Amino acid sequence: MMFGSKQAKLKDGSVVTLRPMIEGDRQALQDFFNELPEELLVFVRHDVKDPKVIDEWARHLDYQRVIPLLAWAGDEIIADVTLHRIPHGWKRHIGKVRIVVSPKYQNQGLATLMLNELTALAAELGLEKLWAEIPLDSVGAVRAFRNAGFGCKAVIEGLVRDSHDRDVDILIMVCDVAGYFDKRWVKQWE
Ligand SMILES: CC(C)(COP(=O)(O)OP(=O)(O)OC[C@H]1O[C@@H](n2cnc3c(N)ncnc32)[C@H](O)[C@@H]1OP(=O)(O)O)[C@@H](O)C(=O)NCCC(=O)NCCS
Repeated sequence: MMFGSKQAKLKDGSVVTLRPMIEGDRQALQDFFNELPEELLVFVRHDVKDPKVIDEWARHLDYQRVIPLLAWAGDEIIADVTLHRIPHGWKRHIGKVRIVVSPKYQNQGLATLMLNELTALAAELGLEKLWAEIPLDSVGAVRAFRNAGFGCKAVIEGLVRDSHDRDVDILIMVCDVAGYFDKRWVKQWE
């Protein structure tokens, strides 16, 4: 699979580049995770401060399974969104989405931009639904996912645990990709 890169403007006018991760991004990704505050690391399922973890990811990139889309300001990674696919079974048409934006670059429309990009990519890949689990109290996250066509579907009270060992409510948001990018309409305009 081949991908290109895209440039886009944030709300403050600064220009960022979006592109999928490649093997050579190992060190930049390590630097991104090392800079993240502890409260944001709870959103990541791996011990990303361990260089061996990033090294494994970089050497075994498999875009059929996970597509990591990175945002760059110059040579610095400022956000990471991943699309996880499930190869078999009843969730084979669903992609799971996770996103982290560096605190310095939050509230500039970056998550909205990346999630819109990922939704379009999911449509191209033939995925029908996208699934995200977000903290119910994160206004920015709810808005960013809404902006990209996700709707609120369910709340699971106290499901996950934050860095201070507090239970946090989780909101399940789903994007109906197939409906959002209805091919009948695309065809009509071609
Ligand atoms: C959630 C997160 C990805 C949002 O990133 P972001 O780049 O700041 O998002 P955006 O700038 O696109 O914000 C979306 C909207 O929410 C608003 N917003 C962002 N942060 C906000 C906050 N703390 N309070 C109120 N509104 C906020 C933005 O102004 C924007 O408004 P708009 O719809 O009118 O344009 C980022 O805060 C983050 O990395 N959080 C930790 C990880 C996380 O929660 N991930 C989600 C679970 S996978």
